[in-house]
Amino acid sequence: MDFHTLPSADPTPWTGPVSAQDGLPLRDSGSWIEEKHRALVYFAEMFATGMKPSEYKRGWPHRVYLELFSGPGICHVRDTGAETPGSPLQVIDHEFTRFIFVDIATPAASALAQRLSKHLNSDKVEIWNGDCAEAIDRLVIPSGALTFAFIDPTGIAHAPFELIRKLRQKTRCDLLINIQHAMGIKMNMHQYKPDADSDCALTRFLGDETWKPILGPSPQTFFANYLELYRQKLASVGLGYSKNHVTVNMNKRLPLYLLLYASGHPLGQEFWDKAVAGSDPQTGFNF
Ligand SMILES: C[S@@+](CC[C@H](N)C(=O)[O-])C[C@H]1O[C@@H](n2cnc3c(N)ncnc32)[C@H](O)[C@@H]1O
Repeated sequence: MDFHTLPSADPTPWTGPVSAQDGLPLRDSGSWIEEKHRALVYFAEMFATGMKPSEYKRGWPHRVYLELFSGPGICHVRDTGAETPGSPLQVIDHEFTRFIFVDIATPAASALAQRLSKHLNSDKVEIWNGDCAEAIDRLVIPSGALTFAFIDPTGIAHAPFELIRKLRQKTRCDLLINIQHAMGIKMNMHQYKPDADSDCALTRFLGDETWKPILGPSPQTFFANYLELYRQKLASVGLGYSKNHVTVNMNKRLPLYLLLYASGHPLGQEFWDKAVAGSDPQTGFNF
């Protein structure tokens, strides 16, 4: 395993929950985390296996899983007290040839390294402890690789569009991005004004100010239009297949965030459609 510490790493000591099993940091989460992981894992498995070369198809010899905002690897479900594997530990069994994880918090990145160190695939793992923007500039993805990138920030301001543009310049990739639309956009509508500066979360996430003329209607209408602008931005960097998303709900009535999928190839879209249909028809995933 390779572990890289970047100047932007945040060494602040951990104050969150720790595991009763291994004493290491846990990511505090709600029970909806299982919905997020179900769709992710179903797709990751299909991607890693489906893109593998075989006697019937050329496939991709290098299949990279890249996770920006990876967390410590185990979550604490606060409603039940259960400890459940985080996204890195859920994906690590699949047939990728390289796993790259990035997290700014040193206690989280170190815990993830310890948790993955004994895994059979540990020699395929690299962990970057630092800000995603800095890691993206430094990490090297083999040319000729096909990458599946999961972008899982805690708020839209943490995932500027520039990250996606740079990622696309670096590697051929499909993306799954968590868009925190409920807290990050709809509930904060009152904060977003036509004179907002370039540091405004909506501008950072979209990468420009084209959201300003669509301000005005209800939060729902605004967000639907904003999402359409975001899809157009994805298309402008070659990710033209992003027609559907999964909504992850806090409870039956309260949507929390979206998992938006984007690919440059219709086969990616086909895989995602199957992942959504197959991950669990009972969960209320909607488009
Ligand atoms: C939502 S959690 C990740 C959960 C994880 N993907 C899972 O499902 O198990 C977000 C993580 O992003 C990290 N983070 C926040 N800002 C960051 C940044 N600018 N660059 C890298 N990591 C960041 C936090 O330390 C936190 O561990």
